[in-house]
Amino acid sequence: MEKIVLIGTSSLAAETVAFIERYQLYDIIGFTVNENCMKEDSFMGKPVYPIESLEECVDKATVKLFCTASWYNHMNRLRKKLFDELKEKDFTFANLISPNAIVYTDDIGEGNWIHDFAHIGHGVHIGDNNVFRMNCVIEHESVIGNHNFFGVASVIGGHDFYGDCNFTGLGALVFNRVAVGNKCIVGAGAALKDDLPDYSLCVAPKPFIKQCDEEKIESYITPAHLNRSVDEFNEMIKAHRKGENK
Ligand SMILES: CC(C)(COP(=O)(O)OP(=O)(O)OC[C@H]1O[C@@H](n2cnc3c(N)ncnc32)[C@H](O)[C@@H]1OP(=O)(O)O)[C@@H](O)C(=O)NCCC(=O)NCCS
Repeated sequence: MEKIVLIGTSSLAAETVAFIERYQLYDIIGFTVNENCMKEDSFMGKPVYPIESLEECVDKATVKLFCTASWYNHMNRLRKKLFDELKEKDFTFANLISPNAIVYTDDIGEGNWIHDFAHIGHGVHIGDNNVFRMNCVIEHESVIGNHNFFGVASVIGGHDFYGDCNFTGLGALVFNRVAVGNKCIVGAGAALKDDLPDYSLCVAPKPFIKQCDEEKIESYITPAHLNRSVDEFNEMIKAHRKGENK
């Protein structure tokens, strides 16, 4: 099995370890953090190396890296910084791809994390250091740059273009043939139809919240609140079938 060193020792590092071990993707030989962040010399039973002298600690010809720094950090500013610094030193980053993901392209850079049940369509180009969370869909022929984050169940239409360092929230929807610049946010649940210039924020309208008492809140989830009863539904189907048989 190929060897890997994970950058970071946060809770996301622990999630990454679980992911790698679950699917036996790599042999994790250790972790690395900046010298000023080193609290202990081991994490989860493996050594922690200083990033500054990583070249002396591991063989970069045979050991790959993966960045576990959070995307919830100034729009991947830290993930990008760590990736760029270590690429500068000629390290190679690993792609972590779930065997449960559907990936119909091999045009994929390095350092990407593709989670369970993500779907990456035919002809898609993916750059480096992107995160695709569970059930996210990148439709055919789309181009995804570097250091982007795609939240759970976000859907990116076909022939879309994403620059770098964008954040796409939970369940966001981007129509097809849309261009998103750099450092944009497509907020959770937003539906984006138009191009986004750099540093744009597209947020979903805030839902209306009504405060109820117990009786009122229960009344919404009762048969009386449904559009029609099952009997009425069956009658509709019967009438429809009769029409078909004419
Ligand atoms: C994008 C996001 C961070 C914005 O959150 P927010 O701060 O609650 O959003 P707001 O509703 O306050 O809107 C943000 C700004 O847009 C403005 N805005 C919102 N709706 C507007 C409207 N209809 N017209 C004009 N301005 C509007 C707000 O006034 C606010 O401006 P300000 O920051 O200058 O005050 C949030 O929607 C989101 O998607 N979070 C990520 C959740 C997620 O996916 N997590 C997964 C990670 S694991």
